[in-house]
Amino acid sequence: MLTQVLNPSQIDIAATLLRQGECVAFPTETVYGLGANALDEKAVAKIFRAKGRPADNPLIIHCHSRLQLADLVTGWPPQAEVLMDTFWPGPLTLVLPKQPAVPDIVTGGLNTVALRFPSHPVAISLLQAAGLPIAAPSANISGRPSPTSAQHVLEDMSGKIAAIIDAGPTGGGIESTVLDCTVSPFRILRPGGVTYEELSSLVAVKDTLEGAPPAPGAQYGHYSPVARVVLVTGDRAKAEINRQIDACKAQGMKAALMALTDSRRPDIHFLDMGRDVSVAASRIYHLLRQGDALGLDVIIIEGLPEKGIGRTIMDRLRKAAAIVINT
Ligand code: TXA
Ligand code: MG
Repeated sequence: MLTQVLNPSQIDIAATLLRQGECVAFPTETVYGLGANALDEKAVAKIFRAKGRPADNPLIIHCHSRLQLADLVTGWPPQAEVLMDTFWPGPLTLVLPKQPAVPDIVTGGLNTVALRFPSHPVAISLLQAAGLPIAAPSANISGRPSPTSAQHVLEDMSGKIAAIIDAGPTGGGIESTVLDCTVSPFRILRPGGVTYEELSSLVAVKDTLEGAPPAPGAQYGHYSPVARVVLVTGDRAKAEINRQIDACKAQGMKAALMALTDSRRPDIHFLDMGRDVSVAASRIYHLLRQGDALGLDVIIIEGLPEKGIGRTIMDRLRKAAAIVINT
């Protein structure tokens, strides 16, 4: 199959492909998604095939209008409405009780469904033009870092999907927060673009750190580049990073340091996470893929403070890491 690369003025072509039951990759404000008609089992099956995704890892349905929700969920609590009013469109996914019309293949057989309204203008136009709820996971091969550019999507999906809309790099760079709204208090299943601090200022929320079970599918390996990732955290991280760099050099390994700009050093290839955590969020997946393009054996990463979006980044870095050293 030849994968058509479309530009944002060709949304109609992408919408027609979606209505015909094909898979189309599209940008969101977080990462590129791999979309298909959520109500068409055969179309959704193509997503699982293209990604090599395990069948018990459910998908998020993307919508642009609350009028679409009546067909998908049986209802929602008033506190969920507060969150919809505040964070939609945006990087917040709500898990709600599903309507029978939502195929089991989308939800991995669960009786709940995950929903989000993306804020990227191209995603909104596509959802409007298709006139369908669109199931879309991140558009990477399962287990690879999520794609934040069309180039990343093509690395993983070229020849496997009908089309991609290339709208350049995504803004946020890290996936949506997945919040289970079927329990009280609500529970964060996956930290993401909307932080625990933002959610808990409005409604009662239990953080994943407080022993909540993670999202289904979280047991699978995630975000793994080919290079071995060594994540170093804690007060004495810098000293440990020195040791790690020396050890790599002694063994003749091709290594890089990934850290905020302040930690740049001249004696090792540097993967620059930027000046602060919000820049880092938009760069980490690109940097992990770059590590592979450079043929690195090891990526040593300096941990970030686990507050706000820093917590989300550390969640992803822990999943990418072969080893976490807490100093
Ligand atoms: O930002 C995002 O969320 C991106 C863009 C494309 O929208 N999508 C994304 O999808 O990250 P994916 O498939 O890579 O991750 C979806 C997460 C998984 O952890 C999955 O287990 C969880 O959402 N999820 C989906 N349906 C669920 C449900 N019914 N109950 C609990 N967790 C669910
Ligand atoms: Mg994903």
